[in-house]
Amino acid sequence: GNPDFDLYRTSEEHDALRDVIRSLSEAKIAPFAAAVDEEARFPQEALDALVASDLHAVHVPEEFGGAGADALATVIVIEEVARVCASSSLIPAVNKLGSLPVILSGSADLKKKYLGPLAKGDAMFSYCLSEPDAGSDAAGMKTRAVRDGDHWILNGVKRWITNAGVSEYYTVMAVTDPEKRSKGISAFVVEKSDEGVSFGAPEKKLGIKGSPTREVYLDNVRIPADRMIGEEGTGFATAMKTLDHTRVTIAAQALGIAQGALDYAKGYVQERKQFGKPIGDFQGVQFMLADMAMKLEAARQLTYAAAAKSERVEGDLTFFGAAAKCFASDAAMEITTDAVQLLGGYGYTRDYPLERMMRDAKITQIYEGTNQIQRIVMARNLP
Ligand code: CAA
Repeated sequence: GNPDFDLYRTSEEHDALRDVIRSLSEAKIAPFAAAVDEEARFPQEALDALVASDLHAVHVPEEFGGAGADALATVIVIEEVARVCASSSLIPAVNKLGSLPVILSGSADLKKKYLGPLAKGDAMFSYCLSEPDAGSDAAGMKTRAVRDGDHWILNGVKRWITNAGVSEYYTVMAVTDPEKRSKGISAFVVEKSDEGVSFGAPEKKLGIKGSPTREVYLDNVRIPADRMIGEEGTGFATAMKTLDHTRVTIAAQALGIAQGALDYAKGYVQERKQFGKPIGDFQGVQFMLADMAMKLEAARQLTYAAAAKSERVEGDLTFFGAAAKCFASDAAMEITTDAVQLLGGYGYTRDYPLERMMRDAKITQIYEGTNQIQRIVMARNLP
């Protein structure tokens, strides 16, 4: 058979994992999802529940105390958490994003020092690439790292940092040689407790309100030279390789949000009666649900295929990661918008979860590279 298809078929273990994370999400995360959104507060209950079941950072390899889950298992965890609360799904997702540079390119010492506490649930990890004037053009960053003996001194501002302030550890990309653009960027691990690290006020956002997004200020932050991840000048490539893998986790989030919206709408149309029968008996409504389910299933297949590519050393992950993220996030926006439509006026109110899902879906078209950037990445890496 075609090895691609064997790789992304879920195994019994994956199915068992889905059962576990689905019941945990429904019991311990869903009950707080509306309040977390309404109050724009960190979903501490979700973090506690995920840590208690070792599901907060499943991607960490076993040798560093983690579960050693493959990319598909990580996708399943994120998908199921996002199905009930997108903000909470950023806990496992951003723990992967922040720590993957260390896993892919870090020294044995860095891995040991930083992955252990992450795996135990003692520390979270964030990823600092974007800046106020460097978003899509990530290589245009200004944050500077200057060598000083056995140390590096970092200065700059990072923006849109997910879980900033909550995380203990930060992977920070900074310019070490301004002459070389992308080849003059290096990656470092910065700790929240390092002197000179501080945070901006939480951004007031349309969605994912439970996940704090803040600026990270680096003011003469002096860190030991062995905190550099990989060789000097490889930080941009590491950042891009990381995104190849983690765009699959954003696709997973989009799938989860869309599945949550579809499940809710499906139930609603059987209960809601107009013109003497459930509105689900009308073909116009049935066709909408059919389209929603079709788009979701196509997005899921592409995402699982990308997850399989994520397990391979060689291959076309760059294309697949971008394609999965782009396709699944567009699908999630369409599906959540249609789900709101199916509930009519009720869908538009905060008495029902669908308007939150629609607001949460929007970010998946924007972060980890806008869907316009994904098209640039795909076009440069056609399979
Ligand atoms: N794998 C490995 N190396 C790569 C790579 C990849 N996928 N992509 C690029 N590189 C390396 C290569 O070494 C390349 O050099 P060569 O040409 O010699 O091979 C070098 O990087 C420069 O690459 P490009 O010339 O492609 O760089 P560019 O300036 O044209 O930028 C880009 C390319 C795709 C537009 C990139 O800037 C990009 O992805 N932008 C979007 C940034 C982004 O996704 N930001 C999200 C931030 S994280 C977030 O949102 C999460 C959160 O917490 C909110």
